[in-house]
Amino acid sequence: MRNLTPVDKWLLNLDEAIRSTTGNLPASDENRSWQNDNQPTLSTQQKRLSSRLMRVNHCGEVCAQALYSGQSITSKSLATRNHMLAAAEDERKHLIWCQNRLTELDSHVSYLNPVWFATSFLTGMATGLMGDSINLGFVAATEEEVCKHLDKHIELLPNQDRKSREILGAMRDDEQRHHQDALSLGGLRYPSPIRRIMTAISGLMTKTTYWL
Ligand SMILES: [Fe+2]
Ligand SMILES: [Fe+2]
Repeated sequence: MRNLTPVDKWLLNLDEAIRSTTGNLPASDENRSWQNDNQPTLSTQQKRLSSRLMRVNHCGEVCAQALYSGQSITSKSLATRNHMLAAAEDERKHLIWCQNRLTELDSHVSYLNPVWFATSFLTGMATGLMGDSINLGFVAATEEEVCKHLDKHIELLPNQDRKSREILGAMRDDEQRHHQDALSLGGLRYPSPIRRIMTAISGLMTKTTYWL
């Protein structure tokens, strides 16, 4: 196999970004089985609610992957960069789980994904430039927020949709680990006003992608 040039790498990253935002990552990359693979059929109404919630979660994973990619590019140390890349691998798995679940629910990914991807990527790059403790602190604060959000969505899903609930539970375990790892590596604990701004921005993403 020939060595990849910087242009090749750039094109591969662009291809991955387009596939991520449009819900076209190879489904077979994550062929895991779930305990609730054979759950009862959902009613039209239950499917509609599950689709809306899973679309929000898919967009959240698009943002997570974009953030980690941006943050890894501008990370100051190799240890921080490696942490970002390892976490981005987990987020890619989550992305495919949500993408596949949306297909099973006969629904679509959010039309706003490209906007949220670009915003998150640039935010990630800017955060990385502020130094490793701020960069890792951002991960810790974001993942803490994501865990709270996932708990809420696990509650909101229709009772009968056990598979979506199982998927969100598995994601939550990984997000909790990302949070802990970022703090262990020296992530700064963000003050409340900054966390409130982050909550407001994620609330905007949640509300728009629920419908679009
Ligand atoms: Fe995730
Ligand atoms: Fe995560």
